[in-house]
Amino acid sequence: MNMKIAFVGKGGSGKTTLSSLFIRHLAATGAPVVAVDADINQHLGVALGLDEDEAAALPAMGARLTMIKDYLRGSNPRIFSAATMIKTTPPGDGSRLLRIRENNPVYDACARGVELDGGTARLMVTGPFTDSDLGVSCYHSKTGAVELFLNHLVDGRGEYAVVDMTAGSDSFASGMFTRFDMTFLVAEPTRKGVAVYRQYKEYARDFGITLRVVGNKVRGQDDLDFLRAEVGDDLLVTAGYSEWVCAMEKGRPPRFSLLEDVNKQALAALQAAADETYEARDWARYTQQMVHFHLRNAQSWANDRTGTDLTAQVDPDFVLGEQQAVVQPG
Ligand SMILES: Nc1ncnc2c1ncn2[C@@H]1O[C@H](COP(=O)(O)OP(=O)(O)OP(=O)(O)O)[C@@H](O)[C@H]1O
Ligand SMILES: [Mg+2]
Repeated sequence: MNMKIAFVGKGGSGKTTLSSLFIRHLAATGAPVVAVDADINQHLGVALGLDEDEAAALPAMGARLTMIKDYLRGSNPRIFSAATMIKTTPPGDGSRLLRIRENNPVYDACARGVELDGGTARLMVTGPFTDSDLGVSCYHSKTGAVELFLNHLVDGRGEYAVVDMTAGSDSFASGMFTRFDMTFLVAEPTRKGVAVYRQYKEYARDFGITLRVVGNKVRGQDDLDFLRAEVGDDLLVTAGYSEWVCAMEKGRPPRFSLLEDVNKQALAALQAAADETYEARDWARYTQQMVHFHLRNAQSWANDRTGTDLTAQVDPDFVLGEQQAVVQPG
């Protein structure tokens, strides 16, 4: 079933740190994991133990967008070319879908296996963001690859896609923020951390997003009280200051099993909360939302940009789900 999980939050709140710990935790249980770095600051590879050179050498999804689009559109007759396939173009009859465990040309081109303590994960990165990416729509061309990946991904129970993301308004424009079964908003006990939560919650409400807050760098009762008062029941769990993380930051990660017990428990709580969303999965709604954002993008800029009526790319009979994945062409 769908286990698409995002870590969002204010810059510096600990998204990458908590994503990487969660990925290590999942991998240690033997679960198949695809880890995706979709943040403006690309640090997930290093947080997973790669050195700077290895991280810099990771293949960027953003640089392989045409290849990704050509693979995904397959023989879909409604999508004429990679150039007319935008980040929100939904799959339809003839599209190729992706699975967490399989080998496919997208993973061959964009994913690298990362050895973790007690397991492995596939890692994909959008690629470093440059100044020109930080404008309006160009920014999306990098995260657009991730949105396409998620919209074509049929993941089974106990399989995880974990995305390290920003909480910026860019992800709201694209629909990317609706692509997850569980969104963990990482918040430090500060007014700014909580303000980002409120903004996210407001966008999330209209789309039935499951949003839970993970308090980070919580140092005592006062911090905890502050988060409880500001966030209420959305507060799932908190992580404290971690010596294990500090050692990792120095390039000397201890064995993962030596992570503090309290932080291990926090990671188990994240997994339990994510797994709970299993029952709530609704492939039809998931497909409808991608269509919603696609129509919105088509009408607001993409029809003009491509000179094509992209609303015609929607296959009205298509619902993303397990059945299609079974019959996908090899
Ligand atoms: N629980 C923790 N204990 C100790 N240090 C932490 C903890 N969480 C985060 N840090 C440290 O805080 C800094 C910021 O964390 P991190 O890079 O994970 O944040 P981020 O939200 O991904 O930031 P950015 O927005 O820059 O991507 C890092 O130096 C990290 O090691
Ligand atoms: Mg980060």
